[in-house]
Parts: sequence; structure tokens; C-alpha cells
Amino acid sequence: MTRTPTPEDKFSFGLWTVGWNAVDPFGTGTRPTLDPWEYTAKLGEIGAWGITFHDNDVWDFHAGDAEREARVTRVKEAADAAGLVIEMVTTNTFTHPVFKDGGLTNNDRSIRRFGLRKILRNIDLAAQLGAKTFVMWGGREGAEYDSSKDLFAALERYKEGLDTVAAYIKERGYDLRIGLEPKPNEPRGDIFLPSVGHALALIAELENGDVVGLNPEVGHEQMANLNYTHALAQGLQAGKLFHIDLNGQSGLKYDQDKVFGHGDLSSAFFTVDLLVNGFPNGGPRYEGPIHFDYKPSRTEGMEGVWESARANMEMWIMLAEKAKAFRADPRTQELMKAASIDQLGQSTLAEGESLADFLADRSAYEDFDADAAGEREYHFVELYHHAMRHLIG
Ligand code: GCO
Ligand code: MN
Ligand code: MN
Repeated sequence: MTRTPTPEDKFSFGLWTVGWNAVDPFGTGTRPTLDPWEYTAKLGEIGAWGITFHDNDVWDFHAGDAEREARVTRVKEAADAAGLVIEMVTTNTFTHPVFKDGGLTNNDRSIRRFGLRKILRNIDLAAQLGAKTFVMWGGREGAEYDSSKDLFAALERYKEGLDTVAAYIKERGYDLRIGLEPKPNEPRGDIFLPSVGHALALIAELENGDVVGLNPEVGHEQMANLNYTHALAQGLQAGKLFHIDLNGQSGLKYDQDKVFGHGDLSSAFFTVDLLVNGFPNGGPRYEGPIHFDYKPSRTEGMEGVWESARANMEMWIMLAEKAKAFRADPRTQELMKAASIDQLGQSTLAEGESLADFLADRSAYEDFDADAAGEREYHFVELYHHAMRHLIG
């Protein structure tokens, strides 16, 4: 490890990440399954600052109240003993067959009511454990067959479900915000809210949307052939980047959940650049946890589990150092200036300029030499290549 992670790094892991025993649709597990408090203790040992979990990572779907309470207590004790924060809690509305057509958008109304109650129970738990974010990944909200849904009604039910959860948080006065996690497909053929942009559009229609934002995942945007850094930027611009799921993905494939940076490394570099350095001309910053949602590949044993967990943190540390050096480099500053990135931070109309002033400005149009302006250089390739020098030079 280049350096030891510290609590200031705010590294956090889902218990389901290191806890995945590598069962996939084609094969049985290749690793033992430990208890959630064992994963918790070990995450503390390797330098994590926080943990996150689904209800059913800690207790069984069929567990009664006493068992639920006992198991949560053991995880909380393990987290306290390891100095770990429980920063996010989420609900599993995808594993049990009852959710095969979703929780909030299931065609069956009684299942939607059950799903919503399951979620609300965990809102109370999240608040009680001091979590600040409640992620909602609607992996089973979607369809394989276009004929299977009234799509308008499904989106209305999604809104209704989210508004109900958000209203509950506000009514109880909890210091908790919802992070919606978009994904285009897998496990459903088409999942509702397939990208950050879709999620933002729905959030804008909510009555209680003030406590609803995003938890974008690297691989999910990339599975939709979209740019993750752009997704984060739009989340920030909307004031909605509440949480993140970092991992690695190599192109348009199934959800690979590789180690962060293992996949599109240059994209990971610019993601870290945005998160640690911010927008070049200033703007909203992400202050939340550096949360990893990856899966140790099925080929790895328990040693590989912990080495791969460490690899996520080390990748972040290495990229953060390089991204800082890149931005601080005077040559980078020069090239950014040559690219007019500073001008992009200036409003297009001058301060106080009226529409009439603008229309009267002959230099903006009548006397503007578009041919000459069309010949200008931007130096974008040089600037990018300079970033690559910092990354791998
Ligand atoms: C996936 C998702 C999940 C969610 C998790 C927390 O593709 O399986 O990324 O891992 O992040 O359910 O909400
Ligand atoms: Mn995923
Ligand atoms: Mn995720």
C-alpha cells in the first residue's frame, strides 16, 4: 500500500461486497460465508472508516424481531470496537421471490405495500444507527416484456413510494437522506431509472424531493455507455450527489463490479480529479463517503477478498495524489487557460446586460468573424495527454 488509509479518507464498504461468497448464475459459491460482524471487524483492521449494509446482509428475511435485534447489536458492537461508522443502510427488495416483479412498482398492490413497510422499518434502523444516507437501488423495479406493465402507472407508483419514504423521514425528523441508485439493466431486462439523468428527472417531480438525491455507481453508468464523471457532475450541479458507489467496469458488459480503477483507468482518474479537486472554476463539492461497491472476483479466495478490498483504497489514494499533482502543475494551468476552461466559468451575457444590450452588441454577431473563431486552437488533446503523463508517466 502506498500509504495507510486514515479516517479522513472516509473509505467505506458494503458488507455485501467482501461478504459475497461468489455464487453466480452459473456456479456455486467459491468462498466461505462469514458472519457480518466478522467482515466488519476485518474491514476496520484494513483501514476502512465506515460500513454499509442491506437489512438481509445482517439478518435473514424470515428472522423475527428478537433475532433481528440481536444480530444488529452484534454488528453495531463490532463496528464500535473497530472504530467504524455505519454511514449508510439500505433495504433488500430484490432477493426474495416476493420481489420478483419489484417492490415499489410491482403490479401486485399487496406486494408494494409489503415492500414499502420493509423499507420503512429500515429507515428507523438507519436513523437509530446514525446513518446519514439511505440508498434505494431498485434492481427489480423494471421489466423484461414491454407488455407486462402500465409504464405510466409504474412511474407514478415509483414516485408514490419514494415520496412516502421521504415523507416518513421528514415526519420523524431523521437526519437522513435517500440516495437513488440508477442502473440500466441486470437483474431486470430494463430497470426503471436507468441513468442519473432519469433519476434526477423523477426526483424533480417529487413532493418531498428535498431529501432525495443520488447514489451513482461507476459500472452502472458505464453499462449504459455513459460517462460516470459527467453523471457525478450533473448530480453535483443539481445539488443531489448524496453518496457514491465506486467500482470498475470494462465496457458494455454485465455488471462486473471490479475493483475501482480496474477497467477504465483514465475515466477513474478524472472521477477522482473531480472529487478531490472540484470543478476548475469552482462549484458544489462532494463531501460524502468514498464508498466501494465491488465484488471480489469468483477466482479469489479469502486472501484475495482482503487484498482486493485494500486495492480499492490504494487505487483511490494513488489516483488522488496524481490528480492533485496534475492540477497543481503550472503546465496544466497553462493548457487549461489555452483551452479557455476559465472562460466557460464566465456567464455568456455580462452581468446586468439586458436582452436589448445583447441584441445591440454588433461584436457578438454582425461584426463577429466566425471563420476566424472557427480556426482557433483548443489544445484539448495536449491537456488530456498531460493528464496521462501524470497518470502513467
Ligand atoms: C448492484 C447494486 C447493488 C446496490 C446495493 C445497495 O448492481 O447489485 O450496485 O450492489 O448498490 O443493493 O443499494
Ligand atoms: Mn452494481
Ligand atoms: Mn451499487
